[in-house]
Amino acid sequence: MRKKLSILVNLLSLGSLLTTLIWYTFEDSYVEFYRPSPQRGAPKPSELCKGCKEAIDKVKKLYNQTWKKHEENCHRFRLQLRINCNGSNNAIVTQENTPVGSKIVFDKDRTVIPVTPELFNILIKENPFSKKRWDTCSVVGNGGILTNSGCGKTIDSTDFVIRCNLPPLENEFKSDVGMKTNLVTANPSILTKKYGSLMARRRAFVDSLHQYGNSLLLFPCFSFGAYRAVCQRAVYAIEDMEIPVQPIFTNPQYLQSMDKFWKSQGVNGHRPSTGAYMISLALELCETVHLYGFWPFSNHPYKLFPLTNHYYDNVPYDSRVHAMPDEFYYWVQLHNKGILKLHLEDCKSGQV
Ligand SMILES: *[C@@H]1O[C@H](CO)[C@@H](O)[C@H](O)[C@H]1NC(C)=O
Ligand SMILES: *[C@@H]1O[C@H](CO)[C@@H](O)[C@H](O)[C@H]1NC(C)=O
Repeated sequence: MRKKLSILVNLLSLGSLLTTLIWYTFEDSYVEFYRPSPQRGAPKPSELCKGCKEAIDKVKKLYNQTWKKHEENCHRFRLQLRINCNGSNNAIVTQENTPVGSKIVFDKDRTVIPVTPELFNILIKENPFSKKRWDTCSVVGNGGILTNSGCGKTIDSTDFVIRCNLPPLENEFKSDVGMKTNLVTANPSILTKKYGSLMARRRAFVDSLHQYGNSLLLFPCFSFGAYRAVCQRAVYAIEDMEIPVQPIFTNPQYLQSMDKFWKSQGVNGHRPSTGAYMISLALELCETVHLYGFWPFSNHPYKLFPLTNHYYDNVPYDSRVHAMPDEFYYWVQLHNKGILKLHLEDCKSGQV
């Protein structure tokens, strides 16, 4: 079984090298965790896909290695986000902004549901971000660039750590990605695919949540009507089994204002990735934002060895849905403007 899996993974990596650019996903990561050993040293010419070296060189040339925070650019960008999206007040559906008897309009398929007392009861009372600000935040993408990065301690040393789509943190991953989690997103598609829509036993799902401690667990449950029921089951499972995470729900109005904002910034995907939403939120809430695990190419930026698509598996992302290249170039720009810090190097001990 393991052997078969490793052949499959090898085939997948080969396939990914043939495609010019393979981007990592924040959703649909449901394949059992399997970690191929990444190859070290300079790859043979056959391992670097056609055009990849050029693309990587171009990004590296663009990317400013000496980074300094630019206070004014930071302040201006934060103000723009506050005016257009107001995440610190609107990012979450709360009992405050969504009373019983009001309606929730889903941002993607325009499903409209009434807010019943039953639904109201699973909403958080007030926005957990409205009065909070943090000095340093990390947004951790799930890219294969984190494998063997040794960035775990550095990530954990920041004040607020945001992770995407229920990534594994324990055992062999800990030293590269850290354990601290203050906010973790859970796309409903992962509940469907990895946990059988929670129609049968829920133990595997709730057990996996222990690694996130008492973090906020953010579900984008009001985008597609079809996911509503599985979200409800997830929240009931968490409550019934007394798991310490706090479920919260993305406000569809916030997602809409975000889509509009990113379009206005020239990022033209079908829709922003979870990472893009989380980075935007962090830029509103945090003084300094660090990005780890964001690198969409299938080879390491400096050592050029082949990377898996995630640090924990090699499932490709759906290029029909997200515009990872556009997004990534945008992070590089924000990095160069001193608005956030995009980390592409491995972490040396103690360095933030
Ligand atoms: C790179 O960043 C340094 C320090 O912030 C700055 O002085 C320099 O102008 C930047 N270079 C480019 C090409 O952006
Ligand atoms: C954000 O929303 C809150 C609550 O609705 C409001 O009081 C505040 O003025 C808004 N901020 C901006 C910049 O629009």
